[in-house]
Amino acid sequence: MKIAVIGSGYVGLVAAACFAELGHTVICVDNDPEKIAVLHRGETLIHEQYLPELLARHRGQRVIFSGDLSEAVRASSVIVIAVGTPPLETGDADLSYVETVARDIARSLNSYKVVIEKSTVPVYTSEWIRRVMQLASATAADFDVVSNPEFLREGTAVTDFLYPDRIVVGADSDRAAEVLRQMYAPLTTGSYYQQAGAIPEPAGAQRPARLIVTTAKSAELIKHASNAFLALKISFINAVANVCEAVNADVEQVALGMGTDSRIGRRFLQAGIGYGGSCFPKDVAAFRSVARECGYDFPILQEIIRVNDEQRRRFLKKVRTALWTLRGKRLAVLGLAYKGGTDDIRESPAIDIIRSLLSEQCSVVAYDPAAMERALQVITGDLTFAEDPYQAAVGADALLILTDWEEFASLDLARIKGLLRYPIVIDGRNLYSREVMQKHGLLYVSVGRATVELESSQASALNLNK
Ligand code: UGA
Repeated sequence: MKIAVIGSGYVGLVAAACFAELGHTVICVDNDPEKIAVLHRGETLIHEQYLPELLARHRGQRVIFSGDLSEAVRASSVIVIAVGTPPLETGDADLSYVETVARDIARSLNSYKVVIEKSTVPVYTSEWIRRVMQLASATAADFDVVSNPEFLREGTAVTDFLYPDRIVVGADSDRAAEVLRQMYAPLTTGSYYQQAGAIPEPAGAQRPARLIVTTAKSAELIKHASNAFLALKISFINAVANVCEAVNADVEQVALGMGTDSRIGRRFLQAGIGYGGSCFPKDVAAFRSVARECGYDFPILQEIIRVNDEQRRRFLKKVRTALWTLRGKRLAVLGLAYKGGTDDIRESPAIDIIRSLLSEQCSVVAYDPAAMERALQVITGDLTFAEDPYQAAVGADALLILTDWEEFASLDLARIKGLLRYPIVIDGRNLYSREVMQKHGLLYVSVGRATVELESSQASALNLNK
């Protein structure tokens, strides 16, 4: 099939590379000439496993990059809208980019096209796209609008695309639904997985992929409801963690006991300093806004957000409790990205916490394997960067773990202890067992678990008994 993907950001670029991998021919469009130039040069713009390989495999053959939307639309039978839907002050998604693109597509129609909305959008957007296209003089019979939400996670977006739990096709016309069935056939029949050079299957993948056809409105709601539910799981376990702290229970044990109930499931029950990123915060707020507009208040959504914000404040309180006063303290911070495996710092709890620490006159020495350059652009104050976790720890009053990078879970703790001024580790991601920290003689504060205190002789030597 010939596919035009409008928008070469995270979703667009991954979708373009993966559609090419499934055998389609893709024109990837962006209105930012610099972005197109970078893509032409063979660079990838984003940190995503397997994306460079796929682009190298298909660039110039099954994937081309262009700044010309009209030409791309005319040359394609399927148009995928993958432009940004950033949040407005009100929490609503800003759909102005979607609207502009819809109008431009309408003006370029030269035959029947299926227009797919892949950007995360509120319910009713497909109807708006249809209306805008008609207002821009497109004839109803010349196009269909389909909602085909993506469920990609940053860091594993390519394998999420090629080995999906499900593909949701929200189509109000059989003709359009059939086009999408064909588009995804290599995944739903499983033929892609037999192909030599196929991207390796991740653990736990279900294949062939399941395709679910719904109405456009249901598909739009599936995306918002799925993200809100995942965010709910995180806020729920964080709230449970807060109860655990109050009664001296262990949230890791509680999460294991809960998660092994197959109806609940173990994933997304990792307590910590809360979720971040460009999706959950934006989508929970947007879903709440949509619900309100439809006349339903949906208070659980507000509570998800409240618990998530509270987790960051509770973490700061833990730092204060462990160090007594903050002014003038030197803190080693491991992690800036909103989660491990990405350089993305959007809505990162780590960035928020660092800002608060700086405003309380601490000095921060931070290390992150991928996100330091980005953090440098958004944080000002007494912040320096280290080359590795050990350099960050030198002379610090405490070590803070804010992102769940794998390498932070296997530190040489004896070395860390030797470098720190006080042997204090405050872990916002529960990367260590209490036993290991106790064995290393570290004062260890984590989330939803009792603090590992220092032996009293050690504490009095350090003057930490208060
Ligand atoms: C999320 C969804 O998982 C994707 O399915 C969805 O397609 C995507 O948003 C989107 O809407 O585009 P992503 O933002 O890449 O993907 O990140 P996740 O891996 O879901 O993590 C989100 C946040 O939750 C991170 O800050 C992570 O640290 C936090 N988290 C996750 C927890 O605090 N606890 C957990 O148990 C799981």
